[in-house]
Amino acid sequence: MQVHEMSKIKAMPATERGSGDEDFGAIVQVGRRSIAYTPSKEVRMRFTLNGNEADIPSAFAEDRLLWLLRDHFHLNGPKYGCGVGACGACVVHVDGEAQRSCLLMAGDVGGRRVVTLEHLGAGRDGGLHPVQKAWIDAGVPQCGYCQNGLIMTAAALLAANPDATARDISAAMDDVICRCGTHQRIRTAVVAAQTSIRRRSR
Ligand code: FES
Ligand code: FES
Repeated sequence: MQVHEMSKIKAMPATERGSGDEDFGAIVQVGRRSIAYTPSKEVRMRFTLNGNEADIPSAFAEDRLLWLLRDHFHLNGPKYGCGVGACGACVVHVDGEAQRSCLLMAGDVGGRRVVTLEHLGAGRDGGLHPVQKAWIDAGVPQCGYCQNGLIMTAAALLAANPDATARDISAAMDDVICRCGTHQRIRTAVVAAQTSIRRRSR
């Protein structure tokens, strides 16, 4: 198990905790959290992350997917905004659907396929998804904090519904909060990406 962001702050024999075996457990610090960690009882779960098989360390299995991605895998595309599913800054794709990683437990994605912003354009022309290209052309970002959620939401919408109407687009994109007020340019960019995707699929 990789524990590169963990520092052992307290360790005690498992026998002192009344478990009856001789293994040493520990309380480890992971980012802002303290987690009980017993190496001998580690259960390894696997999932597909950005096209590669990866382990979900047991120390993270009951933590939020957002922290597994950011603290363990150092994927900082998904952002922490509200932590309660309200803002959309943390959106990733799980089996192709836009999901808020601050609400999912890391253990919930065992056996599933997770894609973050870092991998969205993989294998595409210039390494950019059509949504990312349209974003650049329309000059959407201001401070940038919400942009992961907007781009991942738009990409999932157009993959699921290439014929999304203006109303569909507004409904999906208005669900992601942008405090800089870029939503007019967001709509322009999503429509441009939709046109590009349709052209390529002919
Ligand atoms: S941080 Fe996940 S929805 Fe706000
Ligand atoms: S670009 Fe600043 S919050 Fe959206």
